[in-house]
Amino acid sequence: RGKRAFIAGVADDNGYGWAIAKALAAAGAEILVGTWVPALNIFETSLRRGKFDESRKLPDGSLMEITKVYPLDAVFDTLEDVPEHVKTNKRYAGSSKWTVKEVVETVKDDFGSIDILVHSLANGPEVTKPLLETSRSGYLAAVSASSYSYISLLKHFLPIMNPGGASISLTYIASERTIPGYGGGMSSAKAALESDTRVLAYEAGRKGKIRVNTISAGPLGSRAAKAIGFIEKMIEYSYVNAPLQKELLADEVGNAAAFLVSPLASAITGSTVYVDNGLNTMAIAV
Ligand code: NAI
Repeated sequence: RGKRAFIAGVADDNGYGWAIAKALAAAGAEILVGTWVPALNIFETSLRRGKFDESRKLPDGSLMEITKVYPLDAVFDTLEDVPEHVKTNKRYAGSSKWTVKEVVETVKDDFGSIDILVHSLANGPEVTKPLLETSRSGYLAAVSASSYSYISLLKHFLPIMNPGGASISLTYIASERTIPGYGGGMSSAKAALESDTRVLAYEAGRKGKIRVNTISAGPLGSRAAKAIGFIEKMIEYSYVNAPLQKELLADEVGNAAAFLVSPLASAITGSTVYVDNGLNTMAIAV
């Protein structure tokens, strides 16, 4: 049978999550996605109305099928963790079972198991603020949504992941070198994610024969990136300075992710893999 993938962090057809879903679908995987609750309605409506049909096209001409869309808010592990004002918020009250634990229970009831877990989500409410001006709550929110969310997803999915399976997340080089403008503790959150990748690779490898890697991706004009405010500048900087002078396509990250979760990468775990036209190797601006 084909492999089954759960991709957390898909809410439109512009981001890395969508591109990874497509690359996995093209390789024959069954696709389940987790969509942030506040973005769920518009995503499902757009899907249903055919707004994404052009970008659902796979290399063989068929359209990517998403077997099921799960509402998800990865900052909450269990229903008990959800504060009253969120429970009663009208964007949340319309859906149910969107905490991490409940989503995994539902996937288990629906399908029994998965083979591949993809984490393609991040959020930092104070991302536009320098670190020196970031509040404690803004910093902790960035780490909760962008780093711990991965630990939580892997922890809950691990018992229903088939041995030999794999997991991947997306990180950014601001974790290791200073990128002014990537603030609010998002640089810290990515540093945590990369460190956790190594530790989780050990723990999930020993516990469930699951591989854990992260892709350090170059700049892409996704919805999340546009909210940061300087993405066009970063894309231009990359084009001018990277060894490969070409636009970085989301599909290139999708293809690298498909490789990393496939048996072709069976000895790769705990790694941060750069998919950035080589920009990370440069020490000076050209
Ligand atoms: P995106 O906007 O397509 O994806 C981010 C997703 O996270 C959105 O669908 C959003 O709804 C979801 N999300 C936010 N908070 C959530 C929560 N609490 N629970 C569940 N979902 C939540 O944007 P993009 O850029 O493709 O982001 C995907 C990953 O790629 C992120 O980890 C990002 O940091 C990373 N990345 C992006 C780069 C870029 O230039 N766009 C560069 C390097 C890494």
